[in-house]
Amino acid sequence: MQAEVVEFESAKTGESVQAVYEHPWPVRFSHWLNTIALFVMTGSGLQTFRAFPSFGAKIPQKDLLNWPKAFAIGGWLGGALQWHLTFMWIYIATGLFYLGYQICSGHYCQVLFLPGDIGGVWPMARHYFLFGPKPPATEAYNPLQKLAYTSALGLGVLSVLTGVAIWKPIQFSWLAWLMGGFHLARLWHFLVMWGILFFLLGHLVMVVLHGWNNFMSMLTGWKTHPDYTPRS
Ligand code: HEM
Ligand code: HEM
Repeated sequence: MQAEVVEFESAKTGESVQAVYEHPWPVRFSHWLNTIALFVMTGSGLQTFRAFPSFGAKIPQKDLLNWPKAFAIGGWLGGALQWHLTFMWIYIATGLFYLGYQICSGHYCQVLFLPGDIGGVWPMARHYFLFGPKPPATEAYNPLQKLAYTSALGLGVLSVLTGVAIWKPIQFSWLAWLMGGFHLARLWHFLVMWGILFFLLGHLVMVVLHGWNNFMSMLTGWKTHPDYTPRS
């Protein structure tokens, strides 16, 4: 895939600056709208969980987790479900819009983790976690980033499938059955949420480490001073 690249003179220093168009607007739009939807889905989901904080019979199992009300959305079970099932549509719509765009534009090559990326994961992990040498950057995302993003997208799909299974367990009984029944589907749904939150924690640490330029690229689309040579 060819990238749009421009060179301009910095008004401040007069030096020549290169910028590459990394994130087209459909990706940015769905990224930020989905982030808002995910915030509401998590808060309202946890309020729902507060109403029955257990995955077994309520008695005698002890509450699994006493989630504080201050970090939950909806106020009570009914309110939380209304938030959850309203934002669910935004969450699904932005997800489908993102996937549709990626597939139709061919832009998915930038983000999708493929077998060819496997070899690059360990050198990158060694660099991040064991202070090893930094492997040279060759494209917008390094193999570890692609692995993380592709896993997050997979978790997004799983959150919808497990969610639908517990939302309409009669109509989608086959889906609940595939997940080991309604009660296990509830547990999968809950665990998928923690998987997404775990990804988000790592994602935010990386965003902070990679700095302002990188953050701005997800707002404007353009990344200045790319650390790889874009194919133009
Ligand atoms: C299309 C997507 C989704 C649908 C249809 C859906 C549907 C539901 C339903 C019906 C419940 C109530 C389950 C029960 O009776 O206990 C629920 C609970 C919950 N949801 Fe979702 N959900 C979706 C996405 C998400 C997402 C994206 C998250 C967070 C990342 C999330 C987090 C939770 C949590 C924490 C609970 C409480 C777990 C429980 O007590 O069962 N959901 N969801
Ligand atoms: C406030 C929260 C967030 C911030 C500040 C943020 C920031 C960013 C930035 C700066 C990038 C571009 C990285 C680069 O060019 O190297 C990015 C990409 C990405 N982020 Fe986030 N993000 C946030 C929340 C999320 C959430 C909640 C998810 C999903 C669970 C997510 C999933 C992704 C994915 C999949 C990409 C790659 C998109 C693509 O190129 O197709 N982000 N994010």
